[in-house]
Amino acid sequence: MSTASTAVPAPAFQEPAPTPVSLLLLGRTADPRSERGVECPGDLPPASDPDLVARAAAAKAKLGDRLFILGHHYQRDDVIRFADVTGDSFKLAQQAAARPEAEYIVFCGVHFMAESADILTSKTQQVILPDLAAGCSMADMATAEQVERCWERLEDLGIAERVVPVSYMNSSADIKAFTGRHGGTICTSSNAERALEWAFAKGSQVLFLPDQHLGRNTAVRDMGLSLDDCVVYNPHRPDGGLTDDQLRDAKMILWRGHCSVHGRFTPECVDEVRERVPGVNVLVHPECRHEVVEKADYVGSTERIITLLNEAEPGSAWAIGTELNLVKRLATEHPDKQIVFLDKSVCYCSTMNRIDLPHLVWTLEALAEGRVPNVIEVDADTAHYARVALEQMLALP
Ligand code: 13P
Ligand code: SF4
Repeated sequence: MSTASTAVPAPAFQEPAPTPVSLLLLGRTADPRSERGVECPGDLPPASDPDLVARAAAAKAKLGDRLFILGHHYQRDDVIRFADVTGDSFKLAQQAAARPEAEYIVFCGVHFMAESADILTSKTQQVILPDLAAGCSMADMATAEQVERCWERLEDLGIAERVVPVSYMNSSADIKAFTGRHGGTICTSSNAERALEWAFAKGSQVLFLPDQHLGRNTAVRDMGLSLDDCVVYNPHRPDGGLTDDQLRDAKMILWRGHCSVHGRFTPECVDEVRERVPGVNVLVHPECRHEVVEKADYVGSTERIITLLNEAEPGSAWAIGTELNLVKRLATEHPDKQIVFLDKSVCYCSTMNRIDLPHLVWTLEALAEGRVPNVIEVDADTAHYARVALEQMLALP
């Protein structure tokens, strides 16, 4: 019997609804499985307390060399002023690994950075994140389960042996451990090209996690691969939304993840600022979309953005496509240059911004009183393999 006339066409694929995440009240509870968990026992000082700066300074002075505060460039000014070292993800990972004498490492950044610091420091050191809700939406876009499923597909196709995983620092410890287990490396936005060169010397294909834009921009802009060499694996589609041939033929298998902050910049933003500010130099972070990076004059990590501005001619004009706290700080530090934000609307990283002065004071005062809050501790097995991948990055030529 023919069923052709009665067959119902398969429904078009639809993106699954996002997993509902319960909103946790600040300071009331914690969800250890999620970066959205918040634990803030005791009283947070009110943001209006005029003594916050003095309280943070006093607690810091009391702790002396037992304390080391790391601050990512996207942190607020009132927090960054207390950092012993500021830097991009790469520099902060190096610095965390180079401070064995510090008992407490307070990480003013986001969860994946604190995890990396814990992995790279000794067992006697404790890494503390002042607000456990400071996660990263990009890191959440690749779960261990999804990545294992992708790898199984590559194994079933018989190509896993020639695929080298390269994972961006902006990923969970689980993803870093996956990378270490499968002979790959971590990279940051300041060493992604070196990481890819290393990976292509080892295998013929790369699985790049979780930021498709950094992977594509580095492969195409810096290494001369073509857009056709890249495919995007979508963990929400059956088989990643890719055919066997597409997976076999691609040089770069990009994970479908992105930064919600840098994803806001568009090619139109670049056109608009060029019209508005004659002679402007457009400088963007490599987490921006490829079409934006293509239109920019310069591309670089946060540390590179700072260096370029330090070296820029007085009187020069710059439009910067990265997080707003950093752009505002650069504008204040360089009154002799015209520095504007690439987008017209504001664009903070909301999770980076969760680390504020009240949380820092709360953390430092707890430490000064002998309590250790918000410790970030990666389990031993995960930490072991994640360290393999992180140390591979620190050893890149
Ligand atoms: P870098 O500081 O390494 O450039 O990273 C930017 C970023 O998005 C951190 O979350
Ligand atoms: Fe994550 Fe983007 Fe925020 Fe960095 S700026 S922490 S990648 S969401």
